[in-house]
Amino acid sequence: MSEVIRHDVVIVGGGAAGLRAAIAAVEASPNISVAMVSKVYPMRSHTVSAEGGAAAVAREDDSFEMHGYDTVKGSDFLGDQDVIQYFVEEAPKELTLMDHWGCPWSRNEDGSVATRAFGGMSTKRTWYAADKVGFHMLHTLFQHSMRFDRIVRYDEQFVTKLLVDGGAIRGVVALDVREGVVRTILGRAVILATGGAGKIFPFTTNGNIKTGDGMSLAYREGVALKDMEFVQYHPTGLPGTGILITEATRGEGGYVVNSDGERFLVTRDYGVGTKAELGPRDMISRAIVMEIEAGRGFKGPYGEYVHLDLTHLGEQKISTRLPMVRELAKTYIGVDPVVQPIPIRPVVHYMMGGVDTDIDGATVIPGLYAAGEVACVSLNGANRLGSNSLTECLVFGARAGTKAVEFAAGSNDGSEAVLRRMGEEEAARIEALRGKKKGGEKLARIRRELNQTMESGCGVYREQASMDETVRSVARLKGRYADLALEDTSSVFNTELVVALELGNMLDVAEALAVSAAHRKESRGAHTRKDFQTRDDQNYLYHTICHFDPAGPRLGKKAVTLGTWEPEERKY
Ligand code: FUM
Repeated sequence: MSEVIRHDVVIVGGGAAGLRAAIAAVEASPNISVAMVSKVYPMRSHTVSAEGGAAAVAREDDSFEMHGYDTVKGSDFLGDQDVIQYFVEEAPKELTLMDHWGCPWSRNEDGSVATRAFGGMSTKRTWYAADKVGFHMLHTLFQHSMRFDRIVRYDEQFVTKLLVDGGAIRGVVALDVREGVVRTILGRAVILATGGAGKIFPFTTNGNIKTGDGMSLAYREGVALKDMEFVQYHPTGLPGTGILITEATRGEGGYVVNSDGERFLVTRDYGVGTKAELGPRDMISRAIVMEIEAGRGFKGPYGEYVHLDLTHLGEQKISTRLPMVRELAKTYIGVDPVVQPIPIRPVVHYMMGGVDTDIDGATVIPGLYAAGEVACVSLNGANRLGSNSLTECLVFGARAGTKAVEFAAGSNDGSEAVLRRMGEEEAARIEALRGKKKGGEKLARIRRELNQTMESGCGVYREQASMDETVRSVARLKGRYADLALEDTSSVFNTELVVALELGNMLDVAEALAVSAAHRKESRGAHTRKDFQTRDDQNYLYHTICHFDPAGPRLGKKAVTLGTWEPEERKY
């Protein structure tokens, strides 16, 4: 019998979006009880690895209009303008709240919050705490959440199923990784805040935990995944590990240089205009790939790369504004950026797509919400601007938390007997997988092949034939996954079982991504095709919607919400 627990709201994920949602929920109602169920201890959520900053209007030379326009243009006109308007207006309130809760934002001489330049932003609007912004924001949120004993944490518990019954969400089923038991955690509203799915690619800034869990959970229950074809490559990852070297390096004045010693973003026409190194990520990643393909990269043991040169910034600036970059470069690549350029190359960083939600974070399943990278509220469209995502976690985490409480107040509990049975069926499914001997497929092999095919078909540059091949490969891998054999039968920290469950989620997300990409026959934002090189608003100015179907993903369309800004050519 699996244990059954009841709360009012269940939040899946303990990163910035989940914590912010939990705080908003308990603040919205004096009696509400919130379960926060997280695959890892919250301070190990991927938010912790964010580096460069969080965007919000702070300076007199800035305005909501400017932040809004930058975001719309950055999105290649696929962002929903009502969402963007709400976001830019809420952003300063959220970051100020973080200040009040103890986030140690870096300061100007006069004590005001310091802001730095970031790619695609028309002024300095990225708030920062040196280059450890994710760490400090996560600490701030986690510590603030501890003020509320109505936030009950279920750490290291992996949600494997959403309970949907009678046309509404009723809770989740979670595997307790520490103890090996399965729990049914009921709630009248559920918020997904599980982050993205970068691990479906081989070379990524993402931590191992980012396996698309929340996307797959919702998708399997009938919620569409939206705009999955848009995958952000961050221009500056360390070769080999993929560790992020923050865009703040360029915000503080760093140069990107090829093997001829040329600042090609200045000297050649890559569409970034006078922004040069502060162009948007999609354009800079493409430029680096073009330079390497033209033979102007450096060759190394982990493939070709170009240089990020900070040497002219000086030790004082690097040590105060970018201390972690210095530490990472020294530790992981043996380079001190004070005296040597850092080898870098584009690396998968972020999913613009995700669980289809409205501006409240609500999905089509009554009571089910999503916020943060797992969600596609349509803030980022075809390309996210650096430093908008931490703020997105706060703005839309808070909104989802408040809306979930409102929903829970008017909903009912559903039938406990039915939900208990559903929980037991899920527990039996997990049990059957634990140490499953029947089958000849190896976990690591399927995962490796998945990574390879995603990179070859859905990388920085794409073409129909290779995308179609990826679609077919992922379908084959899904078939082979059913034939998986596992070895570990233990209950306590059975990480093989967890990885097997994650791989199922990754395959769902990868399939939706590849099918969505193969369908969009234009180039827009991060979806860049060699065979269709221009944007085609006539035929493709819509969100791609991908539905789960046992026979294979089913695609549809959703209108983009336009507003103040009509689509125009995107040039800087
Ligand atoms: O480069 C960075 O610090 C990343 C920021 C972001 O993805 O928003």
